[in-house]
Amino acid sequence: MKVSRVATAGLLVGLLVSASVSSLLPAAGSPAPAAGATSSDRPLRQLAGRELLVGTAVDHAAFTSDTTYRDRVGAEFSSITAENVMKWEVVEPERGRLDFSAADDLMAAAKRNGQQVRGHTLLWHNQLPAWLTQGVESGDIDAGELRGILRQHITDEVRHFRGRIYQWDVVNEVIDDNAQLRDTLWLRVLGPGYIADAFRWAHKADPKAKLFLNDYNVEGVNAKSDAYLALAKDLLAQGVPVHGFGAQGHYGVQFGFHSAAEVAGNLGRFEALGLETAITEVDVRMLMPPDTVKLQAQAQGYSVLLQGCLLARRCNSFTVWGFTDKYSWVPGFFEGQGAANLLDETFAAKPAYREMQAVLTLVGRR
Ligand code: XIL
Repeated sequence: MKVSRVATAGLLVGLLVSASVSSLLPAAGSPAPAAGATSSDRPLRQLAGRELLVGTAVDHAAFTSDTTYRDRVGAEFSSITAENVMKWEVVEPERGRLDFSAADDLMAAAKRNGQQVRGHTLLWHNQLPAWLTQGVESGDIDAGELRGILRQHITDEVRHFRGRIYQWDVVNEVIDDNAQLRDTLWLRVLGPGYIADAFRWAHKADPKAKLFLNDYNVEGVNAKSDAYLALAKDLLAQGVPVHGFGAQGHYGVQFGFHSAAEVAGNLGRFEALGLETAITEVDVRMLMPPDTVKLQAQAQGYSVLLQGCLLARRCNSFTVWGFTDKYSWVPGFFEGQGAANLLDETFAAKPAYREMQAVLTLVGRR
């Protein structure tokens, strides 16, 4: 399957050019849409078929309270990522008290819906429990103890979900925008070896899960993705069980995008080391309010990331960071920006959703 991607890459690019203006006819040889449905009603997971897992981050609160949201998660996606409820502050709010209840809810729903689950995330510098950050700050938790705490956390969490997570974001955002190891409590207290340790502990707890590095601003070739490439090489040379590289894909229409070929070329550098790749957290924000031009540019942003993934050989999952503007982290984090998702607040399809359908329709034809 993956090898044919290279042979058909030129053809795909040609087809994609016409796709942006073309109809959304069902793929030759693929099942016809259900009676009464037009091809444009076909959900993304169905269009992607076996070629690619199409995922979304899931907001657990919305999932619990909003049936439209919940139904759409099940219908549209073949993979889910917990937006927050697998993060450390949620799973161990007090030291030694593990709470996987919300995550387990999502796992059960994924099982019912025939979905795979990406694990996010075992080690990050954000959304850590206060007992941990305050303990380190006050000096109550020293380096030896912190290392033990990290080992315990990774072991507990990975073991809890053992056999049910296909890819884990083991370390998240460990390189900063100057392409240096990020200055976090992990680096300060434990030194750079914490990264290799995290992968080794995770692998021991679930030898089958694919273990990923994950970060933003690494979709194309730049100093930051170069630093990840060097890190990945270094880890692999030490025999560390790292299996994948995830580019988050948080874009903004005001910044412009890479080309699909640039994304594929960058992912290809990691694949040449033997790693899988994934696009893990796509959203394309804009200065509010949206207008037709911004929405069309947004569609382009989604498109290049999706095409980049499809043009790469081993990019096997493409995950959006939420799918409706009704529940998005963007307005709370980027002042004056929003409308970053595929569907609007009323769950109506935006041009970006139609573009994803168009690109995925072509997947069935190659
Ligand atoms: C965000 C969530 O979407 C928010 O709800 C939360 O308040 C903060 O974190 N990169 C990541 C994700 O790896 O975990 C972040 O998710 C978005 C940026």
